[in-house]
Amino acid sequence: MKETINAAETNEAKRAMDGILARSDKSALRMMTKEDCALIVRWRNKPSVREWYIYREPFTLEGEEAYYEREVKTGHVIHLMVLDLTDGYKPVGCSVFNRMEPDKNQMEGGIFLGEDSVKGKGIGSDAYRLATRWVFAHWPMPEAQGDPSMISHVATKNIASIRMTENVGFRYEKTLKDVRCTDGTLMDMVQIVLRKSFLADE
Ligand SMILES: CC(C)(COP(=O)(O)OP(=O)(O)OC[C@H]1O[C@@H](n2cnc3c(N)ncnc32)[C@H](O)[C@@H]1OP(=O)(O)O)[C@@H](O)C(=O)NCCC(=O)NCCS
Repeated sequence: MKETINAAETNEAKRAMDGILARSDKSALRMMTKEDCALIVRWRNKPSVREWYIYREPFTLEGEEAYYEREVKTGHVIHLMVLDLTDGYKPVGCSVFNRMEPDKNQMEGGIFLGEDSVKGKGIGSDAYRLATRWVFAHWPMPEAQGDPSMISHVATKNIASIRMTENVGFRYEKTLKDVRCTDGTLMDMVQIVLRKSFLADE
């Protein structure tokens, strides 16, 4: 009986590890699949996630599936799932990189954790570090145009995100006052950047 359970556990772990792109002892990353759409919609509609985004409209399953077909499958957007290794590779959030114009040397990057229970335990910093390094290594941007970089905008009140992005190596560029969200709310935001050259010493 014990052997059967062990075999089942091994198979479960093996299935979970299929498609792992990067991992540490805390978190791992895999590509989003169409089956993740419902989970992402549930997470993205939580006030604790939505309040930090400029786009505040409700996400729908139809909309997310269309986004998957249009942007993710075509490689315009790199949409990674964050997995919690302390909980059997459970998906807990997303890290998304928008290529904007494919021939440009800058991407827009971000991350959110949809499961509130995992916040504040270092998973965001850990997974975003993995994600940014993985994207720089695997989705090269043309260095002929200068130092490849990732840009992000974070609400000045989002202390966890500001600290997390500092942990990952992002640096302050400027403050944008009164950015209008889609529901009319105004938010002050910082523009931060992670240049590939910042990582030279790692
Ligand atoms: C932002 C987010 C990804 C951070 O992930 P996390 O796993 O919760 O963060 P970490 O545990 O790695 O903590 C990062 C830093 O923030 C601090 N921190 C975490 N939660 C905090 C909180 N609620 N208040 C103040 N500081 C906090 C930690 O102490 C740590 O700082 P330190 O390294 O100086 O000690 C996550 O909280 C989240 O998904 N929030 C909602 C969505 C969001 O804001 N996304 C970003 C949009 S730009």
